[in-house]
This record gives sequence, structure tokens and C-alpha cells, in this order.
Amino acid sequence: LDNGLARTPPMGYNTWNAFHEEIDEKMVRESAEILISSGLAAAGYNYFNLDDGWNMKTRGVEGPMAVNSTRFPSGIPALADWLHSKGLKLGVYSDAGSMTCARFAASLGHEKEDAKVFAEWGVDFLKYDNCFATPMSVRARYEAMRDALNATGRPMLFSMCEWGVSSPWVYGHEVGHAWRTTKDISMEIEATWADVVENLDETAGLARFAGPGGWNDADMLEATLTYTEQRSHFALWALIKSPLLIGADLRKLKKEDLLLLKSREIIAINQDPLGVAGDRVWKQGPYEVWAAPLLGGARAVVMFNRHVASEEKFEEHNMTLHWSMIGYPVDMQVVVRDLYKERDLGRYTGELTELVDAHGVLALKLSPVRCVPVFCPL
Ligand code: DGJ
Repeated sequence: LDNGLARTPPMGYNTWNAFHEEIDEKMVRESAEILISSGLAAAGYNYFNLDDGWNMKTRGVEGPMAVNSTRFPSGIPALADWLHSKGLKLGVYSDAGSMTCARFAASLGHEKEDAKVFAEWGVDFLKYDNCFATPMSVRARYEAMRDALNATGRPMLFSMCEWGVSSPWVYGHEVGHAWRTTKDISMEIEATWADVVENLDETAGLARFAGPGGWNDADMLEATLTYTEQRSHFALWALIKSPLLIGADLRKLKKEDLLLLKSREIIAINQDPLGVAGDRVWKQGPYEVWAAPLLGGARAVVMFNRHVASEEKFEEHNMTLHWSMIGYPVDMQVVVRDLYKERDLGRYTGELTELVDAHGVLALKLSPVRCVPVFCPL
């Protein structure tokens, strides 16, 4: 949606995958404090998004939806003020149906009064789910909320959560700032490697629909995988320019996972001002190359050894990146930088071969040494 928001993918925290509907003010304040003290907020994670479970099961006959004041005794405006005073933003959640997925009050037919009250409360972000829908089209139900949000005059980021139903990427740019391309990454049980790869596959081929103001959303960042897998999950989500919304319990986050989520140069790929999403550019069996152009003619490249469970061998693999895979002339000299190690690997011409762990990635930035037309720094 072209209203100045989400020029780069949103970053922040979402309560659902770690807490489901068991959320309350104490947990939110604790998690928000950790977001700040851990350095995540400073790294860019600045939306704190309440998911399903923050509001009441019913609404007054005419009135807007209301907060569950047992769980949130201070109310949403006070929470919004508190988050704002800490430099964070507040997201809430509703649904384009008769109830939310966890059977709380939803907004279909109440878009105007709900949007108005969200604006009055100082809400910055709305995630809009798709449970208990009517036969009305997905697009029409989401457009009704878009119009209601616009009418309030308060800029609120509109995150469409239709699970990829109805090819939302085709029209998403006109309706929201992000649209889910996938099922939930974690359904009741913890996300597995297979879930991550499945969501990635569902988002492959869709990069051309994304851009400033509207992004493909492959669902939240999980922290339930091995370290090697976490590195792949994060680098690939950053490259495809999915929103970076942490879906883990921050109180239990391992030190190594926290450091990964703060990887400056990986985040910079996601937030690159050119705003072109990366996509799969090459694939042979379980070996893949994903790439995105960056501002100034450089390329972000993720060499990915996805490995498939049916294979017997579970091992690292020597992968070769040929410049032709990423649209560079074969004779172009390039400085290659490892984005996790934050270290230059050297100058290369034409190709580069490196070992990539099973389920692992090599996340690189390639910068042309000399200015070649169309690859000149701006
Ligand atoms: C389905 C969504 O895809 C999840 O991310 C979460 O919002 C739940 N609904 C909440 O019920």
C-alpha cells in the first residue's frame, strides 16, 4: 500500500507462536523490555505486535471491539503510550470474518468502528486474519479494512494474513503492506526444518510482486531449529524481504540465536533501500542459489544446501556460484563478503566455490570492483 509505510519490510515481535492466546500485560511488558535490553530494538525490531487473544469474545451491540481488561488491566492506550515512550510501536490483531481463529471478536462488518478505535488508541500496525470468513472474496473483505484504516487518518501498517489463499501477491500492493504467502510456519507444535523449507518454497517465484510498500510474508522467525538451520532461516527470510517478526519466547532465546537475529549485515540486506526482493535463481537437486540486487549494483547471494530427508547423505557440499546465475558478466571482478562473518573473502572473477553445510547457507555480498555500466554504484 503506497502510503509511506513499510518502504522496507517491517521488523518486530509477534506473540502468537510462543504464547498463543495466553498473552497479558505483564508478558508484553517483560518481552518489550527484553526487546530493548537485548539490543534487538536497536537492531531494528521495533513493532510489538499482539496477536489473537488480546480482546473480548463479544462486543457491545454497536460498539467497537474491546480489550480483555482482565488480561490488560491498564488498557491498550496506556500500553501504546508506554511502548511509544520506549521507542517501540504497537500492533494489534483482528480478523476478516465473524470471529478470530481463537474465537474472539472479529471485524467483518465492523471495520469502521474498529479502525477508528485502533487509531484513537495509538495503534501502529494491524495484522488481519482470515478465519470464519463469509463467501465474500478475500480481496473485498481486506479492502473494507484498508479503506477503514485509511479513513482514520492515522498511518497504520496493514498486514494481511490470508495464508496465501486467493494469490494475494497479485493484488496485495493495492490492499496491504504485506501479505502472507504461506500456511502457518508452526501449527501448535514447534516449527521444524521441513516447515521452514516449505514456506520458503511457497514464496519462491513471487519476488517480482514485492517492493517498497508491499512485501511477501513467509511468516514469523522461529527459534526451534539447529544453529545451522537458524542461520539459513534468517538469511533466506532477509533475502526474500519477508517481514522479520520474531515468533519466539524472548525470555528463552538462546544467546547464539539472539546474536543471529542481530546480524547487522544480514538485516541490511532485508532493509536495503532498493527494495528488490530476492528469489531462487538456480537449483540442482538440494543445492540452490538465491539472490537479490542491492542499491548501487551489488548483489546479495545465499548459497543454500537444503538437503532433503529422503537422501541418505547428510553432508556439506562444495557449491559453485557462477556469475551468470546472478546476471553479472563472467569477466567482472567482484569483492565477495561473508555477511555473517562480516569479513571480505577476497576478489573473485567469474565464479566462486565454497563448502556449504547440510541445511546451511553461505550468505554473501558481491560488489563490483570497478564501475561497469548498469553495475555502477549510485
Ligand atoms: C492464523 C495465523 O496464520 C497465525 O499467524 C495466528 O495469527 C493465528 N491465526 C491466530 O489465531
